[in-house]
Order: sequence, then C-alpha cells, then structure tokens
Amino acid sequence: MTVRPAEQPDLEAITDIYNEVLAHSTAIYRDAPTTVQEETEWWNSQCRKGYPVIVAEADGRILGFASFGDFRPWPGFRFTVEGTIHLRPDARRQGTGTILLKELISQAKSLGKHMLVAGVDADNTASLRLLAHMGFEQTAHMREVGYKFGRYLDLILLQYKLS
Ligand SMILES: CC(C)(COP(=O)(O)OP(=O)(O)OC[C@H]1O[C@@H](n2cnc3c(N)ncnc32)[C@H](O)[C@@H]1OP(=O)(O)O)[C@@H](O)C(=O)NCCC(=O)NCCS
Repeated sequence: MTVRPAEQPDLEAITDIYNEVLAHSTAIYRDAPTTVQEETEWWNSQCRKGYPVIVAEADGRILGFASFGDFRPWPGFRFTVEGTIHLRPDARRQGTGTILLKELISQAKSLGKHMLVAGVDADNTASLRLLAHMGFEQTAHMREVGYKFGRYLDLILLQYKLS
C-alpha cells in the first residue's frame, strides 16, 4: 500500500468513496451526492492553497483519501486546520485510516499549523476510536447541531496539538 498526493485521475474514485459514505452513514452531514466536477473544483482549490489531498492505493486501486482545510475562514484561525478521512468499505479496519491520519499530522506540521481539529458524528465509533488512539482530545459535544435521515445529530469536536 502506498500513500501519495491525489492526482486528477483519482477524482472519480474519490467521488465514489465520498458518495458511498454519504449515502450509508451520518459521517457526512449532507444528503445530495457530490460529482466528479465538484470534487475536481475542491481538489483544485486545495492545490491552490497548498493543502494536501492524499490517497492510499494498493494494486492500482484507491482505498481511501484524506485531506485538511481551513477550520474557519477568518485570519485568526490560520494556524488551525480540520481534517477528513474516508475509506472504501472493504478497506476499513486494516490500519489504513491510521496511516493516512499520521500523514495528515506530518503534513500539517510541515505547513506550520498549530492545531488539527476533527468534527465527528457522535455515532461514528470507528472514527472516534481512531482519533482517540492517535491522541486526539475530545473538547466539545455539540448536541443536535446536525440533521440527516430525519433526525438531529450530535457532533463531537476533537483536537490534536501539532506544535
Ligand atoms: C473512520 C475510518 C477512517 C477509520 O479508518 P480505519 O482504517 O478503518 O481505522 P484503523 O484500521 O486504522 O483503526 C484504528 C482504530 O480505530 C478503531 N476502529 C476502526 N474501525 C472500527 C470499527 N468499525 N468499530 C470499532 N472500532 C474501530 C480500532 O480501535 C482501531 O484500532 P485497533 O484495531 O488497534 O484497536 C474508516 O472506518 C472510514 O473511512 N469510515 C467511513 C468514513 C468515516 O467515517 N470517516 C470519518 C469521518 S469523521
């Protein structure tokens, strides 16, 4: 398995992975699927900002992707970024999320960032355990701030100090 920067041809796989998670879980607070065009615009914007989009690949197949972006758009938040990781269902629980998260941490440090934030649905045990294992600290439990599948959702915020 290799981890490398995402390239244009990976955007179809990234779109499929994102849409699978979106359709089957509350990990993403969004109902309508994304498109290759939307993901391409996002990837271009990440490249322009110098923010990473990385993929895990094995045997020519994209297993998952990870990235981080601005936590909030105001200048005073410029040393804080928010991360995201999504894997294909058959690639989960084999350590790939851990490898991608370690790479995000390393790249955020290289960019001189100070804090990495994760916003995780309270029911997302896999993500919460992954982050806890990595040393993220839970700093907020925001009740009923999300809404999907006909119900309100709790969002947990976690932080990892980079410097
Ligand atoms: C969340 C996700 C990125 C985790 O990646 P992963 O590769 O499956 O996680 P890892 O194999 O690296 O496991 C890390 C730890 O998390 C825990 N974990 C992972 N999947 C789990 C699950 N389904 N249930 C309970 N714990 C789980 C384990 O404790 C594991 O450590 P251990 O096996 O040493 O005890 C992945 O499951 C995923 O893509 N899920 C769907 C999308 C998503 O929820 N993204 C995160 C949005 S915030």
